[in-house]
Amino acid sequence: MADASADVAIIGAGAAGLATAIFTRSHAPALTVRLLDGAVRPGAKILVSGGSRCNVTNVEVREDDFNGGSRAAIRRVLRAFTAADARAWFEQRGLALHEEPHGKLFPDSNRSRDVVDLLLDASSRAGVRHHFGERVIEIVRLGQGFDLRVTDRTYRARRIVLATGGLSLPKTGSDGWGYDAARALGHTVVPTTPALVPLTIDDSAGSPHRQLTGVAQPARIDVQVDGRVATRVDGAMLWTHFGISGPAALDVSRHWLRARLEGRDVTLAANLVPAHRFETLDAHLVDAARTRPRARIETVLADLVPTSVASAIAAHASVAADRAMAELTRDQRRALVHALVALPLAITGSRGYNYAEVTAGGVSLAEIDPGTMTSRVCPGLSLVGEILDVDGRLGGFNFQWAWSSAWVAARHLASTR
Ligand code: FDA
Repeated sequence: MADASADVAIIGAGAAGLATAIFTRSHAPALTVRLLDGAVRPGAKILVSGGSRCNVTNVEVREDDFNGGSRAAIRRVLRAFTAADARAWFEQRGLALHEEPHGKLFPDSNRSRDVVDLLLDASSRAGVRHHFGERVIEIVRLGQGFDLRVTDRTYRARRIVLATGGLSLPKTGSDGWGYDAARALGHTVVPTTPALVPLTIDDSAGSPHRQLTGVAQPARIDVQVDGRVATRVDGAMLWTHFGISGPAALDVSRHWLRARLEGRDVTLAANLVPAHRFETLDAHLVDAARTRPRARIETVLADLVPTSVASAIAAHASVAADRAMAELTRDQRRALVHALVALPLAITGSRGYNYAEVTAGGVSLAEIDPGTMTSRVCPGLSLVGEILDVDGRLGGFNFQWAWSSAWVAARHLASTR
């Protein structure tokens, strides 16, 4: 027997669930909306986001910034509630945002706490009924709705929204339960992998990552799949004791992991001097040997990359970096250039979901109507946010997906009284 009924019950009070609840009640104040979350204090993932500053969205968000399901479907959702709409929504509620490099928008306060507080406050004000600390353990489909079982009670709802996130940072409560729930309701789940995650490197492969731990540098990382460059990412790369991190590494991670998942032949190579390719860098060193014959090799290299990287790469190419440029043989020079513009990164895997910002894969977008976010296989069910097979690159895109998909779902829920 159900204890309490509602027009709409939303499972998960992360970015997507909170926004869906707020938007639904704002569009249709007569609807009873319950928002359930296993966490006593939801919003944990927003709190840790963007280095605790929350990169709320980006000045420009397009479907090309995402991977996963159909780009056309993603575009349709993004267009319904754009990044400009999201910015205006937050600013109208007193959260001024400012732009940082790469179009990233952050709160002027630089506090993710302000984003969480704003959303929780807006949800309370909108009259959403909060059920925090109440984890849903079972969804039972009824003729005209659903029963949601939490530990000691059952809620009945005409319509439900799965906003349970994916598998990234599972300690925040997003532990993949939503995938099982979606499967039980008839959905297909595209196999998942971590995304926006640091990558690990084989220690025995002569990689310089350990000795360069803590060094950040610009890089261009190529992902070669089945012998051709499938993805190229430019950005800062951070060497770590386990491998690589930093924006460029995070952005390529999903491409390596997806190719691996599909059993493809995948390799990564880093250009540590992205302004150069083999021929131009080789010509540069030939010129340096002519004009600065007595300069040490490491000194010349240190004009191109951080000093520690210069030494490590010289060692990697078996070149004595303390020798003069005039002593550099042609073969040594070419080995150096090769290591600098196409350093193979012997990736072994990733740091896993505990370190991933987002999940690639998820509930198939083909089974969702992008005009309503409703399920095509289970009437009365909507899905929003990271649970879906959509993952954005670094830069505020994943939150924009949460805001946009929430808006589309809410618009529909409000129109079907
Ligand atoms: P989310 O995972 O946030 O929420 C799901 C909620 O469902 C959780 O509160 C969970 O407790 C609840 N739940 C799960 N199962 C349940 C059940 N059975 N019953 C009840 N409740 C249940 N993105 C971005 O755009 N800019 C950024 O700066 C960052 N930075 C960032 C940093 C880090 C460290 C991480 C891990 C992630 C980011 N992201 C990001 C990604 C972004 O945080 C992420 O895409 C969204 O928070 C996803 O929002 P959702 O609401 O879909 O899921």
